[in-house]
Amino acid sequence: MNGHKQDRKINQFGDYEDTSNMKPEDWDYRWGKSQTQFHMPKIHPLADDGHDVVGLECAEKGCREFFEEQDMPYTTENLTECEGKVFKATTDKKIAIYCCDFFKISSKTLGKFDCIWDRGSFVAIPVTQRKQYSNIITPTMHKDTVYLLDSFLVDNTVFGGPPFNCTEDDIKKAFGSQTDIKKIDERDAFGKWQESWGLKTFVEELYMLKMK
Ligand SMILES: C[S@@+](CC[C@H](N)C(=O)[O-])C[C@H]1O[C@@H](n2cnc3c(N)ncnc32)[C@H](O)[C@@H]1O
Repeated sequence: MNGHKQDRKINQFGDYEDTSNMKPEDWDYRWGKSQTQFHMPKIHPLADDGHDVVGLECAEKGCREFFEEQDMPYTTENLTECEGKVFKATTDKKIAIYCCDFFKISSKTLGKFDCIWDRGSFVAIPVTQRKQYSNIITPTMHKDTVYLLDSFLVDNTVFGGPPFNCTEDDIKKAFGSQTDIKKIDERDAFGKWQESWGLKTFVEELYMLKMK
């Protein structure tokens, strides 16, 4: 290093574009190019147990593919609170996916949840929007909501992200005034993909948040 900040950093899509401030249209572009290695095809087992499952994704391709992968028929309705649609399963499974910009919707439309599973969401949004993110999530929580937040310790001086590094202090800064935060698990998540980003370590942590 010559003392200058390294500006050519690889991102998770395998190129050197600056991904520190991605907007929904940038994610759409990545979905369009099928640069979605983060994606894990799965059906939420909670829906099989009869629970209402709600997801949110800005890329329409991602929403459609979710239902197509499951071979699950669906309908769509336009949203009123913001631009976008909600995809709803028309089977006995109660699954809805809101297709819109997370930062444009609120608990008025989403309602409140008993449980929130946050994988690749808080850690994928621009770091500067973390407080804004928590201001949308916390009104969807009630006093007994369990919010599980999956995060990573990652060196973003080498790797352009997303994900963006997220320490317990970062979570406290965003959510600490309204929630109690407890780390419940951590694991070494370093693999070939992370090695290709030039990283030496990659640690996944799981936090549980509950309203104060
Ligand atoms: C790292 S991926 C994780 C996807 C999924 N949670 C998973 O675990 O496979 C981040 C996802 O967030 C979506 N996204 C990014 N910014 C968004 C926003 N402002 N509103 C809604 N979705 C957004 C992207 O399109 C992308 O699919």
